[in-house]
Amino acid sequence: MTKSLTNKDVNQTEATFKVFNDCASMYDEKYRDISAYEPSVLKFCELLQDQHSKILELGCGPGNVTLFIKERFPNFNVSGKDLSPNMIDIAERNVPSANFEVMDCRDLESIQEVFDGMMCAFLFPYLSKGDVEQLISESSRILSKNGYLYISTIEGNYESSQWTGSKNYPELKLFMHYYQEEDLKNILTKHCFKIVHTEQLVNPTNGDNELILIAKKN
Ligand SMILES: C[S@@+](CC[C@H](N)C(=O)[O-])C[C@H]1O[C@@H](n2cnc3c(N)ncnc32)[C@H](O)[C@@H]1O
Repeated sequence: MTKSLTNKDVNQTEATFKVFNDCASMYDEKYRDISAYEPSVLKFCELLQDQHSKILELGCGPGNVTLFIKERFPNFNVSGKDLSPNMIDIAERNVPSANFEVMDCRDLESIQEVFDGMMCAFLFPYLSKGDVEQLISESSRILSKNGYLYISTIEGNYESSQWTGSKNYPELKLFMHYYQEEDLKNILTKHCFKIVHTEQLVNPTNGDNELILIAKKN
């Protein structure tokens, strides 16, 4: 499918690619500990009743969430995708038992396999509302009946989405999109998902308000 990307979309994606690709090793060290998110990731895994469940993980980064899943559910088949080749190289080293591939999550229409679960951990801050809607619509196609979708993101008004400097590297700017539960709930409901778990937490490092949703495909 040919998408009509505006210059704004291209600039935002280029910045996302550059920051995550250049800082992949630093990200790997800084975010190896995912203990704040373990209860919700565990809940998502436990909802997938088959011990051989297939999971598609979008924006997998260095495989930090993948590693947690594979250590606890070694028979899960996890396919991780990320825009950044450096992130994928690190993920392959960190979790040799999972499969990884460079892929833009906005190209999901190329995926013909069916998955039991989809994981999008802190991917939505880098996607516009149009891209999020497209991703959720494709998730509904890709997921098996009664499949589950895990989303974590930064909570806030979409209208306040903006270019933001990283605290460690202020010269590196990323365009951050903020979402409220209501925004995501409306899109999920439209695409036949029902929210089964909602969690709000404050990031202990940077004070961001974070939102975690698990939705079931009806
Ligand atoms: C904040 S990191 C999250 C990594 C990991 N999931 C976690 O929870 O720590 C966001 C990741 O999404 C990836 N990403 C951003 N836009 C993407 C896109 N359009 N397609 C695929 N991956 C993307 C980035 O390269 C980065 O690795």
